[in-house]
Amino acid sequence: MHFSSSVFIAALVGIAQAQTPEGFKPSVNTKLDVMFNSTAVKTPGELLSKQTTSTQPRIAISRNAVNSTETFVFVMLDLDVPPAQGNTTRRVLLHAMNTGFKASQQRMANGTVLLTSSETGPAAYLPPGPPATDTKAHRYVELLFAQPANLQVQASDFANTQARIGFDIVSFGQKNGLGAPLAANFFTVDGRAGASASGTATASGGIARNTLQPFEGAAGHMDMSFGLAGLLGGLAIVAV
Ligand SMILES: *[C@@H]1O[C@H](CO)[C@@H](O)[C@H](O)[C@H]1NC(C)=O
Ligand SMILES: *[C@@H]1O[C@H](CO)[C@@H](O)[C@H](O)[C@H]1NC(C)=O
Ligand SMILES: *[C@@H]1O[C@H](CO)[C@@H](O)[C@H](O)[C@H]1NC(C)=O
Ligand SMILES: *[C@@H]1O[C@H](CO)[C@@H](O)[C@H](O)[C@H]1NC(C)=O
Repeated sequence: MHFSSSVFIAALVGIAQAQTPEGFKPSVNTKLDVMFNSTAVKTPGELLSKQTTSTQPRIAISRNAVNSTETFVFVMLDLDVPPAQGNTTRRVLLHAMNTGFKASQQRMANGTVLLTSSETGPAAYLPPGPPATDTKAHRYVELLFAQPANLQVQASDFANTQARIGFDIVSFGQKNGLGAPLAANFFTVDGRAGASASGTATASGGIARNTLQPFEGAAGHMDMSFGLAGLLGGLAIVAV
């Protein structure tokens, strides 16, 4: 009795420590620190604004989870893209896949190691833009993988919307020899006007789905290549 209840409590603690959303596979318990300038994702699933998340986050990981020779891949997914017409299942969108991360010399306040990469691809960061007309906040999951030495991914693999929408990290991982994620985190962004953390809920009557408005500020900000700007235009139709 005593034994089984402590096992039960241990199981509860395990659940409480998950860094990935409930039901998300693969589930991950090690925390990836995700920092948008001065705003860190403190608790998994924390609500952040579009404004806060408009530029690529920095990432850090506990010192004993890395070594200086290892290279990492960062992946960010939106799990809640509205369904295609005639379908009721929400879709996954690949918001970022960036290769070449290495442990830097920089330590964060609690001793975590900042990971840096000079690469912005193969899939450049797309800022969250959940639609004002949606019925829920979107969940954005960040995953860190060890990068296989022979990973063959190119920007052209992710150049159009179709390559990013319906993205399946499990089958991608199997095909490309990624192991289990080393660390993860997730946050939410609510596109609806009046949503508490949304600094940029610009419309009062709701933004039409095909407007580019949620992305324009970010486009100017990031000095995006034509390719990414075009991709954002395409994605505005599905609202991510
Ligand atoms: C490190 O500190 C930051 C900021 O205080 C915190 O958000 C984060 O969860 C900590 N990271 C770990 C791995 O404990
Ligand atoms: C975050 O910092 C970068 C680099 O200093 C800056 O370009 C960017 O505008 C900032 N993002 C936000 C959302 O403040
Ligand atoms: C560092 O990581 C590399 C790549 O995963 C691994 O082969 C090596 O054994 C690790 N070294 C140490 C000291 O953990
Ligand atoms: C509905 O969408 C899901 C997710 O994109 C897909 O797996 C499924 O095949 C679609 N169903 C139909 C009937 O098109």
